[in-house]
Amino acid sequence: MSILTILFLLVISTAAEAQRKPSNITLGSSLTPNSTWPSSSGVYVFGFFPQHDSSYAVGIFLHDKTVVWTANRDSDPTVPDDVVSLLLSPEGRLILRRRQGQDEDVIRLSTTIASASMLDNGNFVLYDSNSRIIWQSFDHPTNTLLPGQRLPPGKEIFSSVSETDYGRGIFRLKMQNDGNLVQYPINTPDTSPNSYYSSITDRAGSNINISLNLDSDGRLYLLNGSLLLKNISDGGFPTQGSINLMRLDVGGIFRIYSLSLGNLTMTRRWSSTDDECVPKGFCGVNAYCTMTTSDDAPVCQCLPGFVSVQSGNNTAPCSRTFSVHVCPNIDDRLKSEMIRVESTEWDETSYEIKIMSEEECRKSCLDDCNCEVANYVGNECRKQRLPLRYGRRNSRSSNVAFVRITTSTVPDLGGDTDHKIIMKKERRIDAIIIGIVLMSIGVLALSISVIFVLQKRKVYMKISNEDGANFVEGISLQVFTFEQLSEATNGFKEEVGRGASGTVYKGVVQNGQKMVAVKRLEKDFAQGEIEFQTELKTIGKMYHRNLVRLLGYCFDGDNKLLVFEYMSNGSLADILFNQEKRLSWEERIDIARDISRGILYLHQECETQIIHCDIKPQNILMDDNWRAKISDFGVAKLLKQDQTNTYTGIRGTKGYVAPEWYKQQAITVKADVYSFGVMLLEIICCRKCVDSGRSEDEAILEEWVYDCYATGKIGSLVRDEMVEERKVERMVKIGIWCVQYDPSLRPTMKKVLLMLEGTVEIPIPPNPSSFLSSI
Ligand SMILES: *[C@@H]1O[C@H](CO)[C@@H](O)[C@H](O)[C@H]1NC(C)=O
Ligand SMILES: *[C@@H]1O[C@H](CO)[C@@H](O)[C@H](O)[C@H]1NC(C)=O
Ligand SMILES: *[C@@H]1O[C@H](CO)[C@@H](O)[C@H](O)[C@H]1NC(C)=O
Ligand SMILES: *[C@@H]1O[C@H](CO)[C@@H](O)[C@H](O)[C@H]1NC(C)=O
Ligand SMILES: *[C@@H]1O[C@H](CO)[C@@H](O)[C@H](O)[C@H]1NC(C)=O
Ligand SMILES: *[C@@H]1O[C@H](CO)[C@@H](O)[C@H](O)[C@H]1NC(C)=O
Ligand SMILES: *[C@@H]1O[C@H](CO)[C@@H](O)[C@H](O)[C@H]1NC(C)=O
Repeated sequence: MSILTILFLLVISTAAEAQRKPSNITLGSSLTPNSTWPSSSGVYVFGFFPQHDSSYAVGIFLHDKTVVWTANRDSDPTVPDDVVSLLLSPEGRLILRRRQGQDEDVIRLSTTIASASMLDNGNFVLYDSNSRIIWQSFDHPTNTLLPGQRLPPGKEIFSSVSETDYGRGIFRLKMQNDGNLVQYPINTPDTSPNSYYSSITDRAGSNINISLNLDSDGRLYLLNGSLLLKNISDGGFPTQGSINLMRLDVGGIFRIYSLSLGNLTMTRRWSSTDDECVPKGFCGVNAYCTMTTSDDAPVCQCLPGFVSVQSGNNTAPCSRTFSVHVCPNIDDRLKSEMIRVESTEWDETSYEIKIMSEEECRKSCLDDCNCEVANYVGNECRKQRLPLRYGRRNSRSSNVAFVRITTSTVPDLGGDTDHKIIMKKERRIDAIIIGIVLMSIGVLALSISVIFVLQKRKVYMKISNEDGANFVEGISLQVFTFEQLSEATNGFKEEVGRGASGTVYKGVVQNGQKMVAVKRLEKDFAQGEIEFQTELKTIGKMYHRNLVRLLGYCFDGDNKLLVFEYMSNGSLADILFNQEKRLSWEERIDIARDISRGILYLHQECETQIIHCDIKPQNILMDDNWRAKISDFGVAKLLKQDQTNTYTGIRGTKGYVAPEWYKQQAITVKADVYSFGVMLLEIICCRKCVDSGRSEDEAILEEWVYDCYATGKIGSLVRDEMVEERKVERMVKIGIWCVQYDPSLRPTMKKVLLMLEGTVEIPIPPNPSSFLSSI
């Protein structure tokens, strides 16, 4: 036997002995941020390690500080500043002790710990008084698998936030119960459109028990019970003086690394993919991942005409730098064009796939007002709407994407038009003169058109301004004759709604192809004409998925009609107050969010601020997909851009009307916030804001809700519904903030949306009427 062999055996046996003799951590042991509990060989240690540069987290790491397990990762692994020690307390708990008392469990258990041990294989184990294992870190992997560790069926591991933040990141690797090992971005269902890696070992249906395993030589493999199913990496890496571990990296790729214990260097041995743009969700929507040529790192690139909403944040979405594309294109000043993007791949959500040439595809998308992007793949033209997700550049791909952008083509001529138009200063005077001339011609043209329509009523006409002379607002809407609309609605037969300003009928246009809602304004409606103009001006320019779109109109003597897209599922009032078919809590909150997005658009996102003035469930309509859309801008009053409030006679509907209306005070966007608040309370409680059928305490919704909130009886607001009280309380608080009597106390719609989305804290609201009693 050679000396070398003897030495080798010696090393092996001492290593084996070390494994048998774990370091025993007894009750009362404690750690400070500069001490650790090492395993007997000293390779692995349990204790504090630096996180985010200046703070600490608790977990297991190799003596070179490679972190392999992190405690409390899903909440926030950061150890609070006032923690003085980590303690295996005499009562058998593993706790963080704070300066001012108040302990916090590192690992929450129902059983009492008798001792703990940091084993030499990297497993941190807690024992009970019978030396039985009650918890071990190997059963709770974070982002790393160590040799001998197993990922059992149904379990998943998550990447870290960054190289210095060990919190839960945005990618996951799941050992599915069906035997498939799959990677997804977080917060997505386990479905193939979201997956970006698969071991292709789906054995669903048969009797299987498939787990992921790692050997000491870096071989990663799947076992069915104890039978080998598949090798994922072949391994064969040196084990002497090295540890081969598997880690799901920050960028979403899982890799095998060898850590040399001699010189403490990590060597990358194997990767699940070599293309760092493969992980889906690396970039936010409307962006694609591409490799920089200089340092070979993945970066996110927005689509042409888009910019990131938060530069430096890969996962932040990219949004348009141009005006929103309007469908149908009712503002001809906005010209569309298609920008070509080569060799990109996207999540497939096309609404139409047809075989055609590349040029035909470009043109087909340009002419189809629903088409925002066309992917030309093979010889197929795949039309899509935004947002696009999971984009990446693949230089080997011959795909071509065409992205629609809109540009303004005509200078701004009207007084209060609201489009971003870049006009050179020196041409300004000219433009104004030309504007006045064009305006006069326009008015003349309009009068002639009206006369023309009156004379030839059978003529179906669409006024289009081919040469861009589109100076009178809202005129690029489709114009109908009274006969056409009478025919379309079968003589105004089917009434679908009735409001203060008119009656709404169901109709079909385009040879029975398209359903529409025709609103016939009351003849004797005093402000009919003004309202007509207001409504046209206002809605004609708006496009938002939560607003009902105006398609056209008829202006024919006494007959004034508006043509809207048809909302097949009625109004929110129909479904909210219908006791038989009640929407679920989640569905209702989705609706509230949709409505708030629509109102936010009116208040902030279109350049001319619009106060709706009549937000109520009857004015919220539901489309085919049960998406809520706001209708009836008939009472909306346009505000000039720099004004924040307007004086006007009372509009709106009793019960939803903000107190300032009655007090002759200035009306601001906060009046809509009030109405929204009342409606939100209705959405929460599924009852009307005023219900005289109830007892005096309950009749006025706002008062009842505040009473229930103040006395801690939130549960009685939703009665028999199964919903967490915490969620209801959140919504109730938002509602109460919105219905504050003092407009300045009400949040802005932006804030309301953030609160509804759960991204901001909601302070405790005051009694809505406390403002009243104080004056
Ligand atoms: C750790 O030490 C305690 C006290 O010496 C002993 O009771 C316990 O059995 C030991 N645990 C292990 C796992 O060796
Ligand atoms: C550990 O840090 C504490 C203060 O945080 C200090 O008092 C103590 O001396 C340090 N111990 C060692 C071994 O460095
Ligand atoms: C997995 O193992 C079970 C039981 O050992 C066996 O019945 C089944 O056929 C195996 N499935 C596969 C796909 O190997
Ligand atoms: C699955 O297989 C593992 C061994 O690979 C075994 O330890 C475990 O008990 C099995 N689980 C079931 C439910 O059969
Ligand atoms: C998996 O790897 C092991 C160890 O390298 C080898 O013995 C075995 O043949 C491999 N199995 C398959 C199916 O490739
Ligand atoms: C570290 O040591 C390993 C062998 O233990 C060797 O393969 C590797 O090249 C060394 N790395 C450096 C940077 O010296
Ligand atoms: C980056 O953007 C995403 C998506 O908008 C957001 O969830 C995340 O918090 C942002 N990250 C930072 C560091 O701001």
